[in-house]
Amino acid sequence: MKLAISGKGGVGKTTLAALLADLYADEGVRVIAVDADPDANLGMALGVPPEVLEGVVPIARMEALITERTGASPGSMGEWFNLNPRVDDIPEQCWITCGGVRLLVMGGKTTGGAGCACPENALVKNLLRHLVLERQDTVIVDLEAGLEHLGRGTASGVDAFLVVVEPGRRSFQTALAVARMASDIGVKQVFAVGNKVRPGEEEAVRKGVGDLRLLGVLPYDPRAVEADLGGIPVTEASRELRAAALQVKESLERSTRSVRPLSRG
Ligand SMILES: Nc1ncnc2c1ncn2[C@@H]1O[C@H](COP(=O)(O)OP(=O)(O)OP(=O)(O)O)[C@@H](O)[C@H]1O
Ligand SMILES: [Mg+2]
Repeated sequence: MKLAISGKGGVGKTTLAALLADLYADEGVRVIAVDADPDANLGMALGVPPEVLEGVVPIARMEALITERTGASPGSMGEWFNLNPRVDDIPEQCWITCGGVRLLVMGGKTTGGAGCACPENALVKNLLRHLVLERQDTVIVDLEAGLEHLGRGTASGVDAFLVVVEPGRRSFQTALAVARMASDIGVKQVFAVGNKVRPGEEEAVRKGVGDLRLLGVLPYDPRAVEADLGGIPVTEASRELRAAALQVKESLERSTRSVRPLSRG
């Protein structure tokens, strides 16, 4: 299963990514969680100790690696460099493990924005492509709302694109825009997931996402905020959130199974 998670700032993309990664890992599935948000904090949500996180260099900032693979130093523009650098050995070299989850921190937007044609973006883009198209593992990508790192080829390999929404019109608007972008670049299935939903708000969320299929909703839970403040992994903070995320996961599996040919054997 290859999943990408997006939505407006602060809606709970990282929270959902961490909960799902943890659930898959608990099932014994090999899962790679990819923090593709330049403002990386998936590690924290997964419960990677702060002292470990402090030492993590995002791949987009690994100067020696970027130079070695692309032939040009990070940030260089207008210089010739390899647009298709070797990346298949990078995950094993760079991930950090937490519970059963392998976390890769991409970083990015170091210079001209994620869309820029600079060596670090070529490396990150290619690495994402490799993870989505060539790996057997379950891959969960915590994206920002911009989809610059997902080229067409990569997008077509994503089994499901989850757009997180919270009750609120701005969040719905972003969700619909992101969903449109995702289908424009070739993502096959786009779903919505509600988050921070209080009793009585589910119907509004359902209406707000329009034609997007709502996989489920996660309740508003102050323990998520407390966990964030206290540096506790969200995966341990609340049974209710975990249970709701499990329902989302099951609903996702039903929805993707129904359109994919079953593999033999
Ligand atoms: N179900 C919830 N109930 C209450 N608070 C929540 C819930 N889910 C997430 N939060 C809180 O909302 C804040 C933003 O969550 P999170 O970091 O997951 O969002 P995000 O979409 O990844 O944000 P960003 O756009 O900054 O990456 C955090 O403080 C988090 O603890
Ligand atoms: Mg986030």
